[in-house]
Amino acid sequence: MQFHSEVAPRTCVDIHTLEAVALAATRSAAVASYAWVGRYDQEAADAAATKAMREALAEAPGRGTVVIGEGEKDDAPMLFNGEIVGNGNGPDFDIAVDPLEGTSFCAKDLPGALATIAFGEPGTLWSPGPGFYMDKIVVPPQARDVIDLDDPPERTLVNVAKALGKKVSELRVVIMDKPRHKELITRVLQAGAAVQTPAGGDVGGSLAVLLPTLDVDLLLGVGGTPEGVMTAAAVGALGGGMLGRLAPQRAAEADAIRAAGMSLGRVYNCAELVSGDAFFVATGISGGSLLGRPRECAGMTTAESLLISRGEIRYITHTTFG
Ligand code: FBP
Repeated sequence: MQFHSEVAPRTCVDIHTLEAVALAATRSAAVASYAWVGRYDQEAADAAATKAMREALAEAPGRGTVVIGEGEKDDAPMLFNGEIVGNGNGPDFDIAVDPLEGTSFCAKDLPGALATIAFGEPGTLWSPGPGFYMDKIVVPPQARDVIDLDDPPERTLVNVAKALGKKVSELRVVIMDKPRHKELITRVLQAGAAVQTPAGGDVGGSLAVLLPTLDVDLLLGVGGTPEGVMTAAAVGALGGGMLGRLAPQRAAEADAIRAAGMSLGRVYNCAELVSGDAFFVATGISGGSLLGRPRECAGMTTAESLLISRGEIRYITHTTFG
């Protein structure tokens, strides 16, 4: 493993030349962790996804820096912040990555596990430092100018409904089913909106907001920071709206954020979370409404991915023979 030390100036070329590499990386991670779907072994599933993703990224024609990896908050196998990937022969790029987003979905064979990655131009992906959690709002493009993280949820619902040309009672809100969201869920329900409360997976929840085929209008609540940065790459590429603010869940996390000189009050908009050209890729692992699971049949492996880049969502079904 190599770690980044800033020596040579970084060269900036079109990162979209790396879209195929990103797709190959999430596909490898998804196929590797699929072997662990339903095995009740989160660690093994995460390790398999991470190993496959790391090997695929090693082939990337360029020099990538993992700005934000995943796993630190729960000691899971991970690509480390500062780790260098790629073969050096191409553009510099930054990545935010979670080879297995929704580890428990994978372990329990529940829908929603994804292999995920975002690529950005060098220096464009926000680093949350020692912050593991952030408060988030994600909305479609029509509502991007009406959100404020300091608004009470009732006002957010009214503003978003108006921007989308709907009644509050017609809104569907994704909020992860976590003890910290008990009051939020109650208030959203009392305001008249419907809620969708998956046990986890706020990248998937945010994608559901962005994809016109899925009936979701906004995402609210506290989730992981790596998930937040990857989500911002997708939101930014499609012109949606997102706000985030560090929301430490333990005193030690809050202390570490303060010690790093970071503000606990600052709200980041989508263009601050990802401040340049970026794209997002996910491949399905355990299936669900977003992306199907990998399938192996007669020596062929098929995987379903989506690429969100430059105002487009592309669905890619890829079959490998042999
Ligand atoms: P994993 O990749 O660690 O499985 O994360 C799943 C997830 O639900 C994310 O989607 C979410 O942002 C985060 O965990 C929330 O963390 P926690 O479960 O600790 O509240």
